[in-house]
Amino acid sequence: MNLDEAARVFTQPAAYADEARFHAACAQLRREAPVVRVEAKGFNPFWAVTKHEDVMEISRQPERWLNAPRPALGPEVRDEKRGTDMPIRTLVQMDPPDHLQYRHVSAAWFKPRSIARLEDRANELAKRYVDHMAALGGECDFVTDVAIQYPLYMILSLLGLPEEDFPRMLKLTQEMFGSSDPELKRDSGGDELMATLLDFFEYFQGLIEDRRAQPRDDLSSMIANAHVDGEEIGTLEVIGYYVIIATAGHDTTSSAIAGGMHALLEHPDQLQRLREDRALVPSAVEEMIRWVSPVKQFMRTATEDYELRGVTIPAGESVLLSYPSANRDEDVFERSQEFDVGRDPNRHVGFGFGAHYCLGTHLARLEARALYNELIPRLRAAELAGSPAYMQTLFVGGPKHLPIRYELT
Ligand code: HEM
Repeated sequence: MNLDEAARVFTQPAAYADEARFHAACAQLRREAPVVRVEAKGFNPFWAVTKHEDVMEISRQPERWLNAPRPALGPEVRDEKRGTDMPIRTLVQMDPPDHLQYRHVSAAWFKPRSIARLEDRANELAKRYVDHMAALGGECDFVTDVAIQYPLYMILSLLGLPEEDFPRMLKLTQEMFGSSDPELKRDSGGDELMATLLDFFEYFQGLIEDRRAQPRDDLSSMIANAHVDGEEIGTLEVIGYYVIIATAGHDTTSSAIAGGMHALLEHPDQLQRLREDRALVPSAVEEMIRWVSPVKQFMRTATEDYELRGVTIPAGESVLLSYPSANRDEDVFERSQEFDVGRDPNRHVGFGFGAHYCLGTHLARLEARALYNELIPRLRAAELAGSPAYMQTLFVGGPKHLPIRYELT
């Protein structure tokens, strides 16, 4: 494909659903134009950054490269609305000095020691979902029956939401991240993303009031009653927190788990290896995150002219950091296009890097490991039972259907 065509994959939701084509385009860009300006109809121009080293270089300079006002790539109309009528403010929209202060609100909660106490709960839930697979009798859609449900259950119960509200949260999340997919998007006839955010807003406003009046021992009470700079945390910021946790907190993990299963089925030798040596589960999970790269991109905007690989990016222009591309970079990963459950080292940037490095890494790893620790020893045989389908997306995604046939003990 020509370079312009390759560079436009980042603006085409359907391109992400065609993994082979997407990765071929990224490989070509890494070789021929690793810092490339992209102009596509319906999008404000931006620069695509596809090399691992460059993604890290930009991410490690939060004072020079800002998340505001364009934290992620979306259609032009959305860029315009962002500054004015976004009903929430999340960590990924913040920059120094605010960002660190707000991140501090929940940083301790997400630390390894604090997450480690959730291990029994993750194991118990993982067992419940593998039992559910067994009860389904040897065939299921691994995405809708298992991979979506399990992390959703985990994060929403940590937030303290009642179980009867889980389906509503799932639908809103899918509408938010699936706003580019015809099957998942909401059909409101207007700006779908804004309508979804308003629904979240309304729901979470009730939650804040409740948790301020009667704090409980849950994550939503901790955030609602936090203080930033000596003042009670603002409503927009609490809701921003809830939205990011209730969405990023499970869709990403689901995609890693489901895309990981797809990779295992496509590489039966790797599945066999894992079955023979369960100690490989942690490195297999890292490899799944590298392989799937559920978060497709975030953006940064230059505060001053900046030279990257001999290309000058003018102040005020934005770069798209392509995590899936960086994670297949031949200069960093040996046999970068191979799925290797024992890969070590594995310096993937699937969780990003620097000041905004994913807060949920320990939780995501705990969940994925618990599921595969339960599943692998019980899985006698597994194969695809139909064609997998991937989400059309610009932002977060992975498989949306993965029909499988299996024998479980
Ligand atoms: C496999 C699963 C996950 C992946 C691949 C993932 C990926 C990412 C990435 C790429 C970023 C941006 C990092 C950057 O800009 O450098 C991020 C940020 C974030 N993630 Fe995750 N994430 C996952 C799971 C989770 C979970 C389970 C939670 C919470 C429960 C979570 C909460 C967050 C939050 C709050 C941020 C914003 C941090 C900030 O801006 O300071 N993520 N994640």
